[in-house]
Amino acid sequence: MYSREVREYLREQLKSIKESGLYKEERIICSPQGSRIKVKEGEVLNMCANNYLGLADDPELIDVAKKALDERGHGLASVRFICGTQDIHKELERRISEFLRTEDTILYSSCAAANEGLFEVLLDTQDVVISDALNHATVIDGVRLWGMVHKKKLDSGAVEFPENRVMKHLDMADLEKHLKETQGRRFRMIATDGVFSMDGDVANLKRICDLAEKYNAMVMVDDSHATGFVGPGGRGTPEYCGVEGRVDVITSTLGKALGGATGGFTSGRKEMIELLRQRSRPYLFSNSVAPSIVATGIKVLDMIDKAPELRKTLEENTAYFRKEVTRLGFVIRPGSHPIVPIMLYDAKKAARMAERLLAEGIYVIAFSYPVVPKDQARIRTQVSAAHSREDLAFALEKFAKVGRELGVIA
Ligand SMILES: Cc1ncc(COP(=O)(O)O)c(C=O)c1O
Repeated sequence: MYSREVREYLREQLKSIKESGLYKEERIICSPQGSRIKVKEGEVLNMCANNYLGLADDPELIDVAKKALDERGHGLASVRFICGTQDIHKELERRISEFLRTEDTILYSSCAAANEGLFEVLLDTQDVVISDALNHATVIDGVRLWGMVHKKKLDSGAVEFPENRVMKHLDMADLEKHLKETQGRRFRMIATDGVFSMDGDVANLKRICDLAEKYNAMVMVDDSHATGFVGPGGRGTPEYCGVEGRVDVITSTLGKALGGATGGFTSGRKEMIELLRQRSRPYLFSNSVAPSIVATGIKVLDMIDKAPELRKTLEENTAYFRKEVTRLGFVIRPGSHPIVPIMLYDAKKAARMAERLLAEGIYVIAFSYPVVPKDQARIRTQVSAAHSREDLAFALEKFAKVGRELGVIA
């Protein structure tokens, strides 16, 4: 029963979220996702979407989606293994494997589902996961789930969980220490984001793969912020770091550069993917990806192969924005990724800056603790291939104006 006690408990929870300043308000967009969007305050320049290649409102993709609706229907009303696999689902899986140069691929409703359904299938209680401290929440959840599923009740009554080790962010010496200390275990898996979403940092996959080979561990990469545009062919961080074929398993999303709608996948060693099809619960017990999404996924891969100019525009836009925003006097996290965190350090200042920028027509979001470490508050901007030079110049002009007003820059 939804008793008074339950209601009060939930209200207390909500109150405490509000009091700690962590309550998330959602901004309503009344237009397609794009470089310019309509919100209550009017039309604003969007600098906080993962719309890296600018395909979220691409007319060609929308036509492909419409055609797929006509030819393959709205949905499958089934999971894959009952009656939810169409020819195009198999085609997209094959195309992703070809694109990433992996052995096989399995589609999920999202990358979150892919991450949550991965570890508990491939590993059990005898194994160890070594996970970067700043991995995405859904990688952490996948690892937690493995821990819960494979926990063992001992004769003493105590419960033993599989061992999850958290390595210091990007710290290769710490990774090596964990690998050395766990050599007695059956299997080890190193789990890392390819690009870390709060900083735009790229994992050192070359060193990770070297260490994995030295200590006989597997490598898992969540490449959601890289697939489609990082690396010379847009194949993601394994290509960027020159370790294609050495990463055992990659998870990623169709919800960012690859069209921006929804959907995800796991791609990697043949036996891993085959076992996931048999055992991975978010795949087995969840609806097939909708045909319109699958068809657009195939189309996006064609576009990426045939239209390198999209990646080039993104790269040039990113280099321009990074250079100019630094020239204005802002401190950014160094790098070359279109995630450009503008460091304000102070949470209140970051929130105030985002608010003022919105009033000036720039939509950005401030991130503060606990999403980022204490005193590391920032505005995370994200550059897109859909931004024109005028868009970025407009953003820079407004950043300069508001930055001076708030005393962030001179
Ligand atoms: C690194 C990373 N992994 C996974 C996800 C989840 O992707 P999806 O939206 O497909 O569930 C995100 C999305 O924010 C992400 O940034």
